[in-house]
Amino acid sequence: MEVTAERFVAAMRCHPEGVTVVTAADELGNAVGMTATAFAAVSLDPPLVLVCVDKRATILSPLRAGAHFAVHFLAGGQERLARAFAQHALEGDKFAGASFEMSFNGSPRLSEALAWIECAPHDIVPGGDHTIVVGRVIDVHIDEAVDTGLVFFDGAFAALRRRPREGP
Ligand SMILES: Cc1cc2nc3c(=O)[nH]c(=O)nc-3n(C[C@H](O)[C@H](O)[C@H](O)COP(=O)(O)O)c2cc1C
Repeated sequence: MEVTAERFVAAMRCHPEGVTVVTAADELGNAVGMTATAFAAVSLDPPLVLVCVDKRATILSPLRAGAHFAVHFLAGGQERLARAFAQHALEGDKFAGASFEMSFNGSPRLSEALAWIECAPHDIVPGGDHTIVVGRVIDVHIDEAVDTGLVFFDGAFAALRRRPREGP
């Protein structure tokens, strides 16, 4: 049976995905970002991750130019942020309702998320109508006070609770 775009999308709806917001600074130093679920760890040694970025996405130009970037793993309850960063850049300032600071390497780091990782550019690989951006992880942060993560499954957001942390 032919795999139409519709059937492909329907199959992908059966795949629960963690929700991330990827951020970088553009050539003028402005913060840019987008919601992405096409994210994965690639390698432990060296520590590499990948994110698949639509070729039309605003963030792709700075990433192609070698910008550092941050990947935020959203917490349960951050659907509003996920939707804001999934809007097109021309529809408004995605960062307007979010507090963030620029890292030493120029990655905008959102102050609210379950965790973030910061990446140095490592490789750019063609991927059909997307571009696979591979980053080398240079810093990580986990907010231990946050006890939920955000997933996208069957076209909807859902929160998953973390397991209880072990004591010191
Ligand atoms: C749940 C969800 C997951 C998404 N995952 C991706 C993704 O992995 N890669 C991607 O390029 N776009 C993804 N998008 C779409 C982008 O977020 C959206 O096209 C982008 O923010 C457009 O912004 P721009 O105009 O600044 O390029 C996703 C959108 C949603 C709602």
